[in-house]
Amino acid sequence: MTSEQEIIYLDNAATTFPKPEAVYLAMDSFYRQFGGNAGRGANPLARKAAGLVDETRAMLRAWLSAPEVTFAPSATIALNTVIMGAKLRAGDVVYVTPFEHNSVLRPLEHLRKTFGIQIRVLPFDKHSFECRLDEVKKLFRLEPPAMLCLSQVSNVLGLVIPVDELAQIAKQIRPDSITLVDGAQAAGLRQLEMSLIDALVWSGHKSLYGPYGIAGIAFGTQWRPEPLLRGGTGTISESIEMPEEGVSRFEAGSQNISAIAGLNASLKWLNETGRDTIIEHSRSLTNLLSDVLSNLSDVIVYLPGDRNLITGIVSFSVNNIKPQMIETALGAQNIAVRAGLHCSPWTHEFINSTASGGTVRVSVGYFNTDKDIQQLRSIIESIIYV
Ligand code: ALA
Repeated sequence: MTSEQEIIYLDNAATTFPKPEAVYLAMDSFYRQFGGNAGRGANPLARKAAGLVDETRAMLRAWLSAPEVTFAPSATIALNTVIMGAKLRAGDVVYVTPFEHNSVLRPLEHLRKTFGIQIRVLPFDKHSFECRLDEVKKLFRLEPPAMLCLSQVSNVLGLVIPVDELAQIAKQIRPDSITLVDGAQAAGLRQLEMSLIDALVWSGHKSLYGPYGIAGIAFGTQWRPEPLLRGGTGTISESIEMPEEGVSRFEAGSQNISAIAGLNASLKWLNETGRDTIIEHSRSLTNLLSDVLSNLSDVIVYLPGDRNLITGIVSFSVNNIKPQMIETALGAQNIAVRAGLHCSPWTHEFINSTASGGTVRVSVGYFNTDKDIQQLRSIIESIIYV
């Protein structure tokens, strides 16, 4: 049995792996040296933990260009906070892309069934994958949006969605419309015009190269949802209501400070490495991956017309072979990818891959190399051309 170190990990859209070494060290050191509870009392360990939380929040505000950033245990909880807390009412129209994750679709479907909101899918070209912005303007005029819920980058196709443009059109037509961006796949790697984005949900363990258990909301405007959870915050403890203002309104319960310690280290690593370097590496590997897969006969690659619209992730299928069989065969050769519907059923409807079991998704990260892609190619060839 080969050790985990020898695995070629190409499932960075599920979680980036490995993490920068400093992340492992920071998490270990937190529990050994100062595992106090932030914001709960003023003892030296609590103060040190609070300082770590404050410093990490400040780095996140800078990295995401957002005036306020909250912490949550997962992007799913952060997305639910925004969607369930948006006070949507019967008849309100919510627009989504055809590429949303179930973490957005399932809360919205719940609101549709329970309160009668209306869900509309934005028009994207089936061949070029581009958003038809002119058509969007007409749709927004006919049925002004109460809310937009937009993936920043599709977790299946790597497609970059024009979230700034969509938010701008929505705000021109209905100034009080709310724009939620699901940044689970790309938060911080592509900078957004945050003054147009009411809430950007970020995930620590993906594009920020941090650990599991830490995510949150970056607020770009003054808009705030109702909190989803209520409980102790270590502030205004005389009141049995949640604080009216500030981040603690959205942070009931003890924080996952060990995960915040890891995120603190990953943010420092991101700053040292540089956003442009990371984007350029991802772009170069994605282009190589797209070329390699496109040149294999019997392989269908789901690429947008404009390659500039894709980042980090490439999905493909093979004629007459189920994606799950390819995933298993690659796994047997120590290559990690993800096959199936990727919790994103409407994306697979859009590319007509549902009936055949979805796609095989390959997703690169900063620690992958050209050699990994060449190795993938030779193993795919050995699987499909037997
Ligand atoms: N949402 C994650 C993925 O796309 C887990 O694989």
